[in-house]
Amino acid sequence: MRLKHIKDAEIDILKSKYYINNPENYKGKFNSLFKNDNPIHLEIGMGKGNFIIGMALKYPDINFIGLEKFDSVLVKATKKLENLDIPNLRLIWYDAANIDDIFDKEIDTLYLNFSDPWPKKRHAKRRLTHESFLKKYEIIFKNSNNIIMKTDNRKLFEYSIKSFTDYGYKIEDISLDLHQDEVDIIETEYEHKFVEKGNTIYKVNVKK
Ligand SMILES: C[S@@+](CC[C@H](N)C(=O)[O-])C[C@H]1O[C@@H](n2cnc3c(N)ncnc32)[C@H](O)[C@@H]1O
Repeated sequence: MRLKHIKDAEIDILKSKYYINNPENYKGKFNSLFKNDNPIHLEIGMGKGNFIIGMALKYPDINFIGLEKFDSVLVKATKKLENLDIPNLRLIWYDAANIDDIFDKEIDTLYLNFSDPWPKKRHAKRRLTHESFLKKYEIIFKNSNNIIMKTDNRKLFEYSIKSFTDYGYKIEDISLDLHQDEVDIIETEYEHKFVEKGNTIYKVNVKK
């Protein structure tokens, strides 16, 4: 049953015009895929796609790439996109642990939205803001490194800020209550759920 489900998801993803098969082939030349020189923004762990789809619709002069590790999640985004035509959006099914295999000095901004907190110390290396991931991200940025993170998890937020600053990033902007501080927020699926529950959302923009 589970195998069949995964196979169906894979077929749906492969059919999507937004899906980039063999992203390694575009390493260093993703602009050729979009056929322009507009900036490229990447979201790692895009989940079901609300944020990246909303951003691509709002900012047509920026190219957006959503990257997700699990096909069972990514397929929800490709389904949402079935009747939409958004030329500045592409999706990749990939593990961010190998992100240096697919991008080379071409990303302007990286979004990390509601990343898995991995609360146990022995799992810290799996956090997308762990030093080992920050090292991997080094090669992907075009000019300066620009990361924007949102989470409702205070501990992950504090851990990440320390990890970023220890690595040489400077805090450009920070909000300890995003939904009080900003309007017209493009929410992720998790964000929507957490805001409805009354959780506070934290956001930080770091640069290097
Ligand atoms: C808690 S969910 C948040 C999803 C979405 N960003 C949101 O806010 O609604 C975290 C997502 O990150 C994805 N993810 C976790 N580790 C990843 C990795 N190493 N590479 C790519 N995606 C990853 C998970 O599969 C999951 O879909």
